Amino acid sequence: MVTIAVTAEDADEPRVAVSPDTVKKFTALGCTVKIAQGAGVRSHFSDEEYKDKGAEIVADADAALNGADILLKVRRPGVDELSKLKSGAVVAAMLNPYGAGAELAPLAATGVSLFSMEFMPRITRAQSMDVLSSQANLAGYKAVIDGAALFGQAMPMMMTAAGTVPAARAFVMGAGVAGLQAIATAKRLGAIVTATDVRPAAKEQVASLGGKFVAVEDEEFLEAQTAAGYAKPMSEAYQKKQAALVSEHIAKQDIVITTALIPGRPAPKLISEAMIKSMRPGSVIVDLAAERGGNTALTKAGETVDVGGVKIIGTLNLAAHLPVNASNLYARNLLSFITLMIDKEEKAVKIDWDDEVIQGTLIAKDGKVVHPKLTEKAA
Ligand code: NAI
Repeated sequence: MVTIAVTAEDADEPRVAVSPDTVKKFTALGCTVKIAQGAGVRSHFSDEEYKDKGAEIVADADAALNGADILLKVRRPGVDELSKLKSGAVVAAMLNPYGAGAELAPLAATGVSLFSMEFMPRITRAQSMDVLSSQANLAGYKAVIDGAALFGQAMPMMMTAAGTVPAARAFVMGAGVAGLQAIATAKRLGAIVTATDVRPAAKEQVASLGGKFVAVEDEEFLEAQTAAGYAKPMSEAYQKKQAALVSEHIAKQDIVITTALIPGRPAPKLISEAMIKSMRPGSVIVDLAAERGGNTALTKAGETVDVGGVKIIGTLNLAAHLPVNASNLYARNLLSFITLMIDKEEKAVKIDWDDEVIQGTLIAKDGKVVHPKLTEKAA
């Protein structure tokens, strides 16, 4: 019998790693799911609801962890929790692994197998396990909603007897998963939408959502996408051309949503102080890259700043502001991933260490950090 433990997250994290729906599916696979009392409350999943789907509600984290084969978390757990698991137990979470070598070593030393969901390979088979996509999609939607709420004007064009209200202009910088959802959301609200990216594949996707693509399309642009589907850091020359284009465009925008990221690096700075000051008072920038340093020169992580009437929203962990959706989708990602490790006949954890999905996400095993993306950096 495979036992899965779920414990509460820290006070600033409302999401939870299993949903009533995934508890039911894990139970059908022959697993026992032990959930610490109240772990789902901030995602509006009650203990009763979990129990109805087959979970065992236990008094505290210790009771869930004791004897468990698998621990599922949203954020990186501490040594206090991992040391209560048996050696070789599986732990899956968003471990925020880049640049965290010193913090990961003591976790690895507990002897558990640590899987970082952010490292999920971007292959078709693993799409249902892709936590960056499931959470970024929600963040892109919420960014537009939050931006529209702070913007002191209407989004759609309205023709009334008293005159015409013009449509708002929205500009989305970075048209990946979050950006595409932001484009779709701003369109649904009636804005005139433009978007930019450095990956050529984004051009068609922006157009298919009804957005206008605005970008420097030179030779470097044609090669800006890595084999993994992410953007490369752009040269200084490209950044200069991009800044010239953006500074002209941005002054006419009402709502700007920035989502540009490059894995393992600080977020590229796309909006300078001068560009912010060129925008009309009342305009709003929502910076989804705030957690990684921000896409604007003046973003403050976790705060909303006002620069001459232009507001820059730097809310962290935006997906978690839709906790029910974020937890449901994250829990589904974990269900697909963990299902790979469960032998239904033997009702035991059985891991194919050669599987691309396992290799891609495994960051620590047998007491050591093992992922090449982390060990190469440390060397
Ligand atoms: P991300 O979160 O790493 O970056 C967000 C966006 O910012 C990307 O579109 C990137 O090109 C853009 N960006 C980076 N530097 C920029 C700059 N200097 N200026 C303007 N834009 C910049 O990327 P995300 O959203 O996680 O994924 C990117 C793409 O990967 C997706 O659009 C999709 O095509 C692909 N993908 C494939 C999956 C699969 O095959 N399983 C799953 C999810 C995404």
